[in-house]
Amino acid sequence: MADLSRLDLLRTMGQGHLLDHAETLTGSRKDRFLAELAALDLEELGTLVDRYVRSYTPEMPPGSLSPAPVIGLEDPSREPARHTGEALIRAGKVACFTVAGGQGSRLGYDGPKGCFPTGCVTGKSLFQIFAEGILGAQRRHEVVIPWYIMTSPLNHEATVAFFAANEHFGLDPTAVRFFPQGVMPSFDRQTGRILLAGPGELATNPDGHGGAFKALRVSGALEDMKQRGVEHLSYFQVDNPHAKPVDAVFLGLHASSPESSGEFSSKMVPKTSWDEKVGVFCQADGRTRVIEYSDLPEELAKQTDEHGRLRFIAGSIAIHAIGVSFIGKVTGDAAFALPFHRAIKKVPFFDPDSGRLVDPQEPNGVKLEKFIFDCIPMAEKSIVVEADRVEEFAPVKNATGNDSIESSKRLQTERAARWLEKAGASVPRRADGTVDATIEISPLTAQNAEQLAEADHPASISPGAEVVI
Ligand code: UTP
Repeated sequence: MADLSRLDLLRTMGQGHLLDHAETLTGSRKDRFLAELAALDLEELGTLVDRYVRSYTPEMPPGSLSPAPVIGLEDPSREPARHTGEALIRAGKVACFTVAGGQGSRLGYDGPKGCFPTGCVTGKSLFQIFAEGILGAQRRHEVVIPWYIMTSPLNHEATVAFFAANEHFGLDPTAVRFFPQGVMPSFDRQTGRILLAGPGELATNPDGHGGAFKALRVSGALEDMKQRGVEHLSYFQVDNPHAKPVDAVFLGLHASSPESSGEFSSKMVPKTSWDEKVGVFCQADGRTRVIEYSDLPEELAKQTDEHGRLRFIAGSIAIHAIGVSFIGKVTGDAAFALPFHRAIKKVPFFDPDSGRLVDPQEPNGVKLEKFIFDCIPMAEKSIVVEADRVEEFAPVKNATGNDSIESSKRLQTERAARWLEKAGASVPRRADGTVDATIEISPLTAQNAEQLAEADHPASISPGAEVVI
């Protein structure tokens, strides 16, 4: 039975509407609602509402920021690192880790984002694209690569059911493990009150990809990794179909570069403009960190070097390599906590006064989230490795425009065309250089230009064709 004695605190915190609402409920629905309220960390909530909702002052970045050093595309350490990375993969020391707990509200898709049809010709789901990437890598390296997928309580069942219905896309189901992350209540932007999702139900949101570290430990996934002998995670987000499930060069650099402690490494792409909306890798007090685009002072964001290149150019694409022992170390510390960030979003809610569900047209709510990159400064030495944008970044965030399914499909075709051209095939291009065809390469066929050159592929593509290789 939940301890309800402290619930009066809600009134002093300006959340009395929840107790008033409880009074309108009866029976088991009321009991469940009161238990939900009792499970809240009331002291923490009070502080969070004051700090992030009712009177918000943006966090100041550290005063002495400099650009983080980057291991470039032509760096000589890359080739030797490939061997180290391949050895790690072959020895079963690498697992994939996908964060798929987000709500995908910008995309507006009614289901887990990983189920979204994304393949530019086949319409394969994001999950299938990754599954085939993992399957292809398993065959190439002759090893089982476990896959950990973080869901949220809001999409867990739908995600697990999708994999079951698709027979795990050919992967061994015992090597695919799902676990839900934690949630936070969502707040009304104007009043700071916790919103209701329905009668007797709080509106909640997943606690951000930064919730991953805690969720890995609490769910037992971390223990499972240790038992399987997994030492490093290849981390990527569910919405980037160009993320390589396992990248031997990156993993090798992460595990063996003298600049890396093998704890938390990252990939970057050069920003296309000073105001591109991506986090930037910086250094402060000898530690690497990501500064969100909105927190990087404009004067720094615009600075250029002697070649006219942006100084703070290293944009994050949310691809990381993470040491399993690092996760164990930081989450084993009772004081481990990541800061919250606030996001202003549209949050559908139940209005207890009118008894109606409201679907707001404008952002009405505040969601509090943690970001995984806030763990980076906890690493002793953290490297940032350059990636080619077209090769590794084709995110599906929005329904239209930038980082949308349209732009992702264009990038999928562009990458496929590059691989074909490198392999000697001819690809029709328009006067402006864009590809006059739609081309999708299955990750089972090839995951880079070299692999495509060795695989069966057409010698030429006809203008306007839709091709699957
Ligand atoms: P985004 O920050 O793009 O958020 O997530 P989102 O929830 O998917 O989409 P919007 O903002 O509502 O439109 C980046 C990655 O982090 C995961 C997402 O699933 C995606 O892979 N994520 C995000 C989580 O796993 N949990 C979260 O709480 C938030």
